[in-house]
Amino acid sequence: MSNFKPVSASATVLAELMIPSYSNFGGKIHGGHILSLMDKVAYVCAVKHAEAYCVTASIETVDFLASVEVGEMVSLYASVNYVGRSSLVVGIKVMAENIKTKVVKHTNTSYFTMVAMDDEHKPTEVPGLLLQNQQEVRRFFEALHKKELKKYYRKKEVRLKSEVEQREMIEVLKNERCMIQLPQE
Ligand SMILES: CC(C)(COP(=O)(O)OP(=O)(O)OC[C@H]1O[C@@H](n2cnc3c(N)ncnc32)[C@H](O)[C@@H]1OP(=O)(O)O)[C@@H](O)C(=O)NCCC(=O)NCCS
Repeated sequence: MSNFKPVSASATVLAELMIPSYSNFGGKIHGGHILSLMDKVAYVCAVKHAEAYCVTASIETVDFLASVEVGEMVSLYASVNYVGRSSLVVGIKVMAENIKTKVVKHTNTSYFTMVAMDDEHKPTEVPGLLLQNQQEVRRFFEALHKKELKKYYRKKEVRLKSEVEQREMIEVLKNERCMIQLPQE
């Protein structure tokens, strides 16, 4: 059997106190700061599994469910949900705790696809993933399903781009909130 590693071997938690310099003009924590922390925890988790340098290949939509306040403690929980040949999907859950009241809120969840690189900066094979409970099996299955869907929609998008003529686009956009003002030919 080739090399398989359990999810627990690379599960990572990153916690940070939100200080005033991280805030935006509205006084809340800047979304970009949370994204940067997510990228860091995804990197640590991916490198622990891959035992190689990893780059971020893509990030799934990040919905901010609740704002984060200055003074809150943010904890990011990351684990490898899926591995391909050289890619890994790291699932990240972000929680923010008011350290005075102990109230904890879920602020966002996202999935980062990381790719392991060798010394020549070429994608390199990562260990397989040992799934040891139902939740790990479900997460792996869901990530695989999303990957297949992404492939399907990419193909569809390419076809759409090559098939749709400009006048058809204008027809479709007729009822949208845009105004088309093309230069005269
Ligand atoms: C990500 C990157 C290494 C992929 O290189 P590539 O030449 O397309 O490599 P491959 O086609 O062999 O793909 C390698 C793996 O990445 C996956 N991959 C590539 N692009 C991807 C994307 N946009 N989303 C998800 N997975 C992707 C492939 O599916 C493949 O997975 P597998 O080995 O598990 O089957 C390359 O595009 C790159 O270096 N991007 C810049 C990364 C970066 O700078 N990130 C920000 C700073 S860390």
